Amino acid sequence: MDAKALKIEAARAALTHVESGMRLGIGTGSTAEEFVRLLAEKVSAGMAVTGVPTSERTAALCRELGVPLATLDEMPELDLTVDGADEVDPRLALIKGGGGALLREKIVAAASTRMIVIADQSKLVETLGRFPLPIEVNRFGLRATELAIARAAGKLGLDGPLTLRMTNGEAFVTDGGHLILDASFGRIPDTRALSEALHAIPGVVEHGLFLGLATAVILADPAGIQTLQATR
Ligand code: A5P
Repeated sequence: MDAKALKIEAARAALTHVESGMRLGIGTGSTAEEFVRLLAEKVSAGMAVTGVPTSERTAALCRELGVPLATLDEMPELDLTVDGADEVDPRLALIKGGGGALLREKIVAAASTRMIVIADQSKLVETLGRFPLPIEVNRFGLRATELAIARAAGKLGLDGPLTLRMTNGEAFVTDGGHLILDASFGRIPDTRALSEALHAIPGVVEHGLFLGLATAVILADPAGIQTLQATR
């Protein structure tokens, strides 16, 4: 089974949690796109859902495939968000933002009663941090913010390069008009402490640690589907 087939299986399993009438947060990335494709089939067969997209890219795909959309302002409380992740740990903490949509993804997830994460089994790690942590920062004072992040991480025993994300030779710009620093800290034993330290830095808009947001994680591997449930 190739990676795409696993993403489709995870997306299909998440779709069984979607019911007509739901207000749905819709994630970003290649796995979330498979979910949108399957959801669109249900919509064309009569399922009535309204989606709130987490990126312009997801919004465009939903429009193309006929999935009805609303903004988060029009629909500020959501029943369920389905999204991918770059890393997942057994306690359902996540690293997200590989696709650059972490800010909207986190706002939408926080507005949802439930968040189901879909991924292939390769995303499961014992401790987060193998995947560089995306940190969305304001353009103003980039260098000062970078130094503040390095100092805050250093106090927690973390260090490693902070790399400005680039695309086609230019700085990558998020849907919110910000930049992304990818932090290669390696293993992050205390995710809560790092999250709080990053939030205390004025130039940091948001970071890709999603803590206490996922209520379930659906992981696909060639042997089948594994679902991790939050214990709270
Ligand atoms: C988008 O900003 C990310 O948070 C994605 O959810 C994450 O990168 C997973 O993407 P894939 O499903 O493409 O691996």
